[in-house]
Amino acid sequence: MKISIVGTGYVGIVTGACFAEKGHHVTCVDIDQSKVDLINKGTAPIYERGLDELLKKHAGDRLRATTDLAEAVQQTDLSMIAVGTPFNGNEIDLTYIKNVARQLGLALKTKSTYHVVIVKSTVVPGTTDDVVLPVLEESSGKKAGADFGVGMNPEFLTEGEAVNEFMYPDRIVLGGIDQQTIERQAELYQGFPDVEVLRTNNKTAEMIKYAANSLLATCISFSNEIANLCTAIKDVDVVDVMHGVHVSRYLSTQLPGKKRVQPPVVSFLAAGCGFGGSCFPKDVRALAAHGQKHDVPMDLLNAVLLVNERQPQQIVRILKKRFSSLQGVRVTILGLAFRPDTNDMRESPAIPIIRALLREGAKVKGYDPVAAEEARRLFSPQELELSQTLAEGVTQADAIVLVTRWDEFRKVPDLLKHLTPQPLFVDGRRLLDKASIDRYEGIGLETT
Ligand SMILES: NC(=O)c1ccc[n+]([C@@H]2O[C@H](COP(=O)([O-])OP(=O)(O)OC[C@H]3O[C@@H](n4cnc5c(N)ncnc54)[C@H](O)[C@@H]3O)[C@@H](O)[C@H]2O)c1
Repeated sequence: MKISIVGTGYVGIVTGACFAEKGHHVTCVDIDQSKVDLINKGTAPIYERGLDELLKKHAGDRLRATTDLAEAVQQTDLSMIAVGTPFNGNEIDLTYIKNVARQLGLALKTKSTYHVVIVKSTVVPGTTDDVVLPVLEESSGKKAGADFGVGMNPEFLTEGEAVNEFMYPDRIVLGGIDQQTIERQAELYQGFPDVEVLRTNNKTAEMIKYAANSLLATCISFSNEIANLCTAIKDVDVVDVMHGVHVSRYLSTQLPGKKRVQPPVVSFLAAGCGFGGSCFPKDVRALAAHGQKHDVPMDLLNAVLLVNERQPQQIVRILKKRFSSLQGVRVTILGLAFRPDTNDMRESPAIPIIRALLREGAKVKGYDPVAAEEARRLFSPQELELSQTLAEGVTQADAIVLVTRWDEFRKVPDLLKHLTPQPLFVDGRRLLDKASIDRYEGIGLETT
């Protein structure tokens, strides 16, 4: 099929590259000329495992990028909207979505064949039907259903795993105003034969995305609240507690020979210094605000957010317990991205932790395998010194704080062995074995 994808951020570019890999002809559209140029050269504008390889393979062939949205619409049969939907404090900001819908409508005006417009961005229930569709009709002067289709196809990818998750999805949700819209999308996804495809209306498709993300965020905040209580009780390690929870028959299956198989959800039922990223915080806030609009008090989701906003303070609390003052204390932050295998620092817990430490007068250093450039956009060299290697990061530190679960950080116990005196190590993700480091502290762990 010939498709256009508007917005080449994390979702747009991964979607474009993967559909090209599946044999479709893809035109990526962005207003950012530098991103367009990079894509046309076969270079990924973001760090995402496997993406560079796909772009190298398909750029200039089945995949191209342009800033000309009207031309892209003329040359394709289906357009996906993948622009940002940031939360503005009260609701999601639909400025980018509306802009794109207006431009798509104008392009449809002169298009003689039936075209399908799909919203891939995360939008609150009702947005596709009540905002996007009327804008398309108004600017095109045409009728949805008769002249063009309008659908909603939420994206579930996880940054860092995006290419793999797109190529091997767990589900495909196809919303649409009518059967024709849904069937056109189904055609696009024909190359994913063994996946459950849910055909539904646009509002349900929109709601599925929010419900899915809110559940996972709830699991994280639940685990963090339990961790904080373990800390207060003392001599109860949250890692042991959550292990006891994970082995329940509801969360694992015991195979013959005592081997257990656990569903991936248990990785969200683990204590840490909070969730971040461009999706969980924004999506939970948006759903909570949307509930309020419909007179449904979203008490649970509001609590999920509150627990999460407070959680980075646990790191500062642990450090303050061990140092009478943090003034001049050299603290290294291991991991700046919001999760491993990405350079995305949007709403990363590393940000409030670094800011709090700076307020306390600490000298802060950071190390991340791929997010150094992003960090430089947020912190000046005076605020945050950046280390080139993990070994450099852990030396000459009074305290080390692990914030991101990068696999590389499993080497820390070995690196620390050679250091005297031993720095304090605060495990913000409970990634490492507490017995492997002399001065170990962690979230949800306090001894009397
Ligand atoms: N990042 C994720 O992991 C993820 C996962 C699932 C869903 N989502 C949702 O997908 C949507 C996009 O997220 P993202 O992280 O890819 O966003 P992003 O901010 O990384 O990228 C958005 C892109 O849209 C471009 N853009 C803005 N206005 C434009 C216009 N008028 N025409 C063409 N391009 C335009 C921007 O230049 C930018 O490149 C959001 O709604 C998000 O919630 C994101």
